[in-house]
Amino acid sequence: MREKIKRLLIEINSFSTNSKEELELFRIKMLGKKGEVTILFDNFKSVEVIIKKEIGQLLNELKTNTQQKINDLKQLTESNGDVDRKIMDLTLPSQSISIGSRHPLSLVKNEIINIFSRIGFAVSDGPEIEDDWHNFSALNFSEEHPARDMQDTFFIEDKIALRTHTSSIQVRVMENSKPPVRTISPGRVYRNEAISARAHCFFHQVEGLYIDKNVSFADLKQTLLYFAKEMFGSDTKIRLRPSYFPFTEPSAEMDISCPFCSGKGCNICKGSGWVEILGCGMVDPAVLDNCKIDSKQHSGFAFGMGVERITMLKYQTNDLRLFSENDVRFMNQFKTEL
Ligand code: DAH
Repeated sequence: MREKIKRLLIEINSFSTNSKEELELFRIKMLGKKGEVTILFDNFKSVEVIIKKEIGQLLNELKTNTQQKINDLKQLTESNGDVDRKIMDLTLPSQSISIGSRHPLSLVKNEIINIFSRIGFAVSDGPEIEDDWHNFSALNFSEEHPARDMQDTFFIEDKIALRTHTSSIQVRVMENSKPPVRTISPGRVYRNEAISARAHCFFHQVEGLYIDKNVSFADLKQTLLYFAKEMFGSDTKIRLRPSYFPFTEPSAEMDISCPFCSGKGCNICKGSGWVEILGCGMVDPAVLDNCKIDSKQHSGFAFGMGVERITMLKYQTNDLRLFSENDVRFMNQFKTEL
């Protein structure tokens, strides 16, 4: 027995590993139910009395040595794990995360802003909750104008409503600046309409305003022609049809040659070769005066376009509701390079 213990002590002391699995096998081999050390303890009963004390001490020493060895090696294997982690190659490319896409309305809005900024237009902003003066009265809407009707406007309280168009920002800009003014105002607007493929209770507009001395209808026309060509391609043609808005005189609606059939006639333009994209006109002198700009000294033009309308024409989208549903199958189609 003495010999056996000494042999085991040598074996245990010289054992080494950095693998957790091997260490566990070693533990079972020595201290398991049928392990070598355990069996020696079992056999201790039959040791002759005179050497019991000596063998007992040797056995205890063997057991503590074994346990100590196992503990030491256990610590080592665990810190080895750390070492493995520390030498991870941090220069490897990480797993790619999927990035979202810009909303198509934002893409088009930004493009509109870019196009106009190239010819000196600044960007201005205004509140979505607007008072009667800025949304209607200053813009020459008579008291009986149907757009003031509860059917079209979401009122919050008497004379306070969600703005029905971005023309309200025109008023704010004119009230707060001196000509020359060259600005566009993108924003969300609200109308009390039933939601369908062609109408929604909220949508987006970009308003344009140019005020200076001697601004003419020719300036308006040329500015809008430049915009149409930049937005829809250099072959695009425009036409202006007489129209009516309370805040412009004269007023017009602008069509572009149909971007789908280049003016030949298709079902998008209903065979006419033209599609309407915006309203415009010369700012009514009464509006200038309302906003404390001397209409004898200054003139200006304004225009307003629906961002959804432009987006639908640019991306051949046929249902307005897609823009507010945030269906990723729709949105993913607008992924662009960052
Ligand atoms: N505010 C008009 C609308 O919502 C659009 C518009 C027409 C704006 C003519 C203008 C303009 O500035 O001159 O339908």
